[in-house]
Amino acid sequence: MKRRQFIKSVSAAAGASLLFPSAGSMMSGCSTNTTIDGKWDFDEIVDRSGTWSIKHGRANEGQIPMWIADMEFRTAPAISSALKERLNRDVLGYTSIPDAFYESIVDWETKMHHWPVKKEWVAYCPGVITSINQAYLTFTRPGDSIIVQPPVYDHFRMYAERLGRHVIDNPLLFDGKRYRMDFDGLDRLLADDSTKMLVLCNPHNPCGTVWDEETLRRLASMCHQRGVIIISDEIHGDLTLPGKRHIPFCSVSDEAASIGLVFTGPTKTFNLAGIGMTAYCIIPNEDLREPYLKQLNDTKLNEPPLASLVATIAAYTQGAPWLKSLREYLQGNIKEVIDFFSANNLGIKAIKPEASFLVWLDCRSMGLTQEELMNFFSNKAKLLLSNGAAYGPGGEGFVRMNIGCPRCLVKEALSRIRNA
Ligand SMILES: Cc1ncc(COP(=O)(O)O)c(C=O)c1O
Repeated sequence: MKRRQFIKSVSAAAGASLLFPSAGSMMSGCSTNTTIDGKWDFDEIVDRSGTWSIKHGRANEGQIPMWIADMEFRTAPAISSALKERLNRDVLGYTSIPDAFYESIVDWETKMHHWPVKKEWVAYCPGVITSINQAYLTFTRPGDSIIVQPPVYDHFRMYAERLGRHVIDNPLLFDGKRYRMDFDGLDRLLADDSTKMLVLCNPHNPCGTVWDEETLRRLASMCHQRGVIIISDEIHGDLTLPGKRHIPFCSVSDEAASIGLVFTGPTKTFNLAGIGMTAYCIIPNEDLREPYLKQLNDTKLNEPPLASLVATIAAYTQGAPWLKSLREYLQGNIKEVIDFFSANNLGIKAIKPEASFLVWLDCRSMGLTQEELMNFFSNKAKLLLSNGAAYGPGGEGFVRMNIGCPRCLVKEALSRIRNA
């Protein structure tokens, strides 16, 4: 979207509607302040013009971009301050990984997720997907099978296939409200000797499911029995909503710890995707950790950019209060969406997410083909959403809506859907 042309002033209350001009009168709840009474102001419309935003770059004029998973919020001020402070020294030479990096992660996992990880289990990783790809290369060979459980984050499949691996689907079961794993289907797929790995999305994107302990234990036990490795992508794990607790996969049992590799990082939680190359892995089993770290070392992917280190340490040592506020705000946005679709009979059902800022919308009752559905949202409602079909079997008839934005934009988007 060419928003720059709309930005004349951000100082007045009208500034918000200038940044998202097509939102019009619904923008009354927006603000242009960074903080209010010293608290973070998630109602602020942040100007992303000229920042090379992928999310906004793909949107046509007048469309609200609600697709790729970054948020319309500033990152936590503690993170920006730490980055600015470091830049102010003008020192940008080769940098080693300080102990503080590992300590901040151990502390975060222990306090946030009740998982007392050992420092030696943790290693820097160059982004979650890049690092999962390295796990494909380390533990599987071309032609081996990797299980995914669709509808699921499309990059798991995309890169496995690019690397010549065979991706097999164990689609999730859906009762119209919540998703669960198909253990009978899994049993059949695990019986095949070519199956070497399963990629778990924990919590699950796009369905928003926070997997419970019993499910994770059963999954671990079945895969352990067959010698199948589990890659657990936990990038959305810090963003659970009230009443739900993220359970790190490797923490559920000895079996899980012996076959699991956890990949996660602060980029979704603190809106740092643009920093890039910012993640870490936790691998309790030395027999998996050693070959994996050798692979990162052999490909020189174990050297973090300076900004990644500074941001991670600041996020995990100082970011918790900001995150608490963010989660409360996201909860309010989700309530807005759920209440709206319950009150308006539009043939769209919102599946209440248990974590993160992505709402999975079941539009099958609208009776449209996927192409018509995308056309409806893009051209009639003027919203750029993620196409459910991209997430594999079970995604047809669905779209994913990113509600990580000021509430006034969520309200405007809902009103556009009703009017369309
Ligand atoms: C489940 C999941 N994993 C990984 C990523 C991307 O992580 P990274 O940018 O660290 O590769 C995303 C981004 O949306 C995601 O939703």
